[in-house]
Amino acid sequence: MATIGNDILQAKKLLLEGELVAIPTETVYGLAANALNPEAVTQIFVVKERPSFDPLIVHVASIDQAQQFITAVPKKAIQLARHFWPGPLTLVLPKQSIIPDIVTSGLSTVGIRCPDHYLTRQLLSELPFPLAAPSANPFGYVSPTTAEHVNNQLGHKIKYILDGGPCRIGLESTIVGFENDQAVIYRRGGVSEEEISKVIGEMSYRLASSNPVAPGQLDSHYAPNKKLYLGDINELKKEFTGKKVGVLRFMGNSDSADTYQLILSQSGNLEEAARNLFAALRQFDQMEIEVILAEPVPDSGIGKAINDRLRRAAK
Ligand code: TXA
Ligand code: MG
Repeated sequence: MATIGNDILQAKKLLLEGELVAIPTETVYGLAANALNPEAVTQIFVVKERPSFDPLIVHVASIDQAQQFITAVPKKAIQLARHFWPGPLTLVLPKQSIIPDIVTSGLSTVGIRCPDHYLTRQLLSELPFPLAAPSANPFGYVSPTTAEHVNNQLGHKIKYILDGGPCRIGLESTIVGFENDQAVIYRRGGVSEEEISKVIGEMSYRLASSNPVAPGQLDSHYAPNKKLYLGDINELKKEFTGKKVGVLRFMGNSDSADTYQLILSQSGNLEEAARNLFAALRQFDQMEIEVILAEPVPDSGIGKAINDRLRRAAK
């Protein structure tokens, strides 16, 4: 298995040698490699069993560093970076040729973000290159929000996991691109649309399609192994009488009628629910249940991103 620790020097040494290291961020754990080294980046696709058409996000230490890798930045992108970085926002911008094609799956744009976790910021500030990092899970599965999650699935394939504790946000970054200077949301995530529109006003959406700009938009993604059904839990229970069900509730106290149940936030706090969602889906995969019955959360703020992940898990 991988070594788990908080030794930045060890992480740095391995990355300099072209190895992969799992890193903590405020959203989810990433599987990182030197973004400027195509051989190192190839290993990310191998270890994740990720199709090569799915581009990676490049992680930088600062806005200044980002500027070395992008061209022609729209004004709204600068406003968003100044407001939300470091933080859970990825900007899709025209790339410079120094970013290898394998990172962007041949696209002329690169997804770039400055993550907000003290260990990874320290690591990035000491490295002479940015880090390409997708979420540190096998392709299509739920993203990891603890070092143990990473170790359980990828520990036999990587040497080191930098342990920064449980992720503070728990859902992936919001991805924003620009089309004719108009901001376009490609993936809902850690920064809500309400917060974004306060900074740049109007924006549009391109969230799902058969030929996605961002494969995070693939209909079936972020999915546990057990089949998940989304709807009114009491109605769903009627459909599944006789089956061993796991119940995923947004809020409240546990119901003695349900043997297997998890509650995302007893007090009904959406941020807490986001933080707990992926760990809950992983727990259900370990339980002796046949199906997961889940209810949507209130559709505001980060609740929209939670509902997005629940819908994709239900496909
Ligand atoms: O919070 C996050 O974003 C985490 C942490 C580790 O930073 N990363 C993450 O990476 O969720 P990943 O690879 O699991 O999802 C990244 C998404 C993919 O769906 C990818 O297609 C999209 O970002 N993406 C990357 N570059 C893009 C580009 N040039 N144009 C459109 N979409 C892009
Ligand atoms: Mg992912």
